[in-house]
Amino acid sequence: PAEERIRNFCIIAHVDHGKSTLADRLLEATGAIATSAKNAQVLDTMELERERGITIKLQAARMTYTAADGHAYILNLIDTPGHVDFGYEVERSLQACEGAILVVDASQGVEAQTIAVVQSARAQGLEIVPVLNKIDLPTAQPDRVAAEVQAILGLDCTRAIHASAKERRGIGEILEAVVARVPPPRAGSRARPLRCLVFDSSYDAHRGVIASVRVVDGALRLGDRIAFLNSGAEYEALELGVLVPHARPVHSLAAGEVGYVCGAIRALADAKVGETLAHAADARAQPPRVAPLPGYREPRPMVFCGLFLHDGDRFELLRDSLAKLALNDASLVYTAESSLALGSGFRVGFLGLLHMEVVQQRLEREYGLELVMTAPSVAYRVTTTRGERILVDSPDKFPEQSAIASVEEPFCAVEIIAPFDCTGALMELCQEARGEFGNMQPAGDGRVLLQYALPLGEVISGFFDSLKSRSRGYASMDYAPSDYRAADIVKLDVLINGERAAPLAMMVHRAAAQATGRRLAARLKELIPRQQFRVPIQAALGAKVIAAEHIAALRKDVTAKCYGGDQSRKKKLLMRQAEGKKRMKEIGRVSVPQSAFMACLSLR
Ligand code: GTP
Repeated sequence: PAEERIRNFCIIAHVDHGKSTLADRLLEATGAIATSAKNAQVLDTMELERERGITIKLQAARMTYTAADGHAYILNLIDTPGHVDFGYEVERSLQACEGAILVVDASQGVEAQTIAVVQSARAQGLEIVPVLNKIDLPTAQPDRVAAEVQAILGLDCTRAIHASAKERRGIGEILEAVVARVPPPRAGSRARPLRCLVFDSSYDAHRGVIASVRVVDGALRLGDRIAFLNSGAEYEALELGVLVPHARPVHSLAAGEVGYVCGAIRALADAKVGETLAHAADARAQPPRVAPLPGYREPRPMVFCGLFLHDGDRFELLRDSLAKLALNDASLVYTAESSLALGSGFRVGFLGLLHMEVVQQRLEREYGLELVMTAPSVAYRVTTTRGERILVDSPDKFPEQSAIASVEEPFCAVEIIAPFDCTGALMELCQEARGEFGNMQPAGDGRVLLQYALPLGEVISGFFDSLKSRSRGYASMDYAPSDYRAADIVKLDVLINGERAAPLAMMVHRAAAQATGRRLAARLKELIPRQQFRVPIQAALGAKVIAAEHIAALRKDVTAKCYGGDQSRKKKLLMRQAEGKKRMKEIGRVSVPQSAFMACLSLR
């Protein structure tokens, strides 16, 4: 098809505002999927994704639509991941489009993520089409929300579309708006040397890497020798296709088109998201006839934790499982690590907390592993007194205090939208988290938009929970890593029965060390079951103990306190103990349950 008959667009929205439902409706209305197939959401393929309702992997669906002007158009809907952990992938998928449908729940209004995704879409120069969804709800106030979108996001809402994805209202209008308002791909680019943007890549056991591409310049044909410009790897294009939404092979893909390429590519590292695919001959020419598309970055892990097994015998399985997951997830990084208390395991880097949770669940569910995870931490930049600069992503690697000249910590830009009457409580929370106030403005409907710079280390340790509880569940937030700033960070050690519990060590801000140490010791006292002997628990900075507790020795019969002969209650208690035992690790002759390792998370 000619460029002027192609539209490449995506749908952007805050979580739960109806992105997936609307995507299904568009596919349905254009006949790409049968109307009856309303059970599964077609664009989300991973089981976990559907369960959690979060879009993780990007895909593209191609639709044919005959518009009111009588012409047939190819509409490529590019799916974007919905969470900030996948920010770089969102950016790449936006780059593959010329326009975006912005879905805003008309009963909720603009939320923190709405602002973040609109900013990204603007940065990519996309035409944004506002859609006010869920107008079927009695609580919907599309006019008020339209005014809000206009005031907060500065988007012209005079032509905002009122829709109900659920009741299939406004769908035709949205398709017409895509044709009329989203610009076609730039004309004339087909005469240039081939360049494609890889905006998604996944691994298939039979075909190797499947790269989703947007052809930016030139044309890609079956059998072409291709090269990835950043990795330098060369392959042959063995299969080309489009997703309608199921894979349909084609012979070529020309500039403006979206499709996928397979080339028996064995390593995901060769064809990462953000790569530029070109003809090998153009890449090899001296000087090269093509330059990589701008903006390529290696995905940068921001959150780290230790991953160990309850059952040390299955280490090989853990290693293989991580390798398999990494085949499909270029942003997952890990190195082997061993700990006296926990045995052999890995230090794993994630894009954020959600990414961490998804990986944990997949390892447990798909590979049947029982994991012990240490508290997550960020990576600090430490300069030693000898002038070395090291990246410290684990308390194990934190140098002795006397060897440290300075420490820098990662910061992030945070946007919070909350009811106005929570403003004081939330500003206090940000203050406690060492936040730097940025801006505050009304966000419509009695709400406020707060902008802060916050240390990422604070954001990943219980901040979301506090935010929710201090706003009665109403606040929404979004964060994006920004810069590194000087910080007085120290290593807080935990000693159980006199022995250092390496997995419980934390890197914390000096001002918070004492309070954290106290709370940690108190939590451990609750979480570690009594032993036959008295167990001291201490928190220390270097050799200096800053907080101490102890667990009294065990009484003979644990069930004695279950008064009377309440058998079911006794049984429950014993069962709970047995269950707990499975996840225990020995430190200083004391059995420490996994919940203790996660205790650091809920310290705020
Ligand atoms: P994520 O995948 O988590 O980003 O969410 P999403 O934005 O894709 O939202 P999704 O399509 O999964 O919809 C969220 C919820 O809103 C689901 O329970 C939908 O059934 C419901 N929903 C979507 N559109 C409408 C609508 O027009 N009206 C009503 N009443 N509910 C809707």
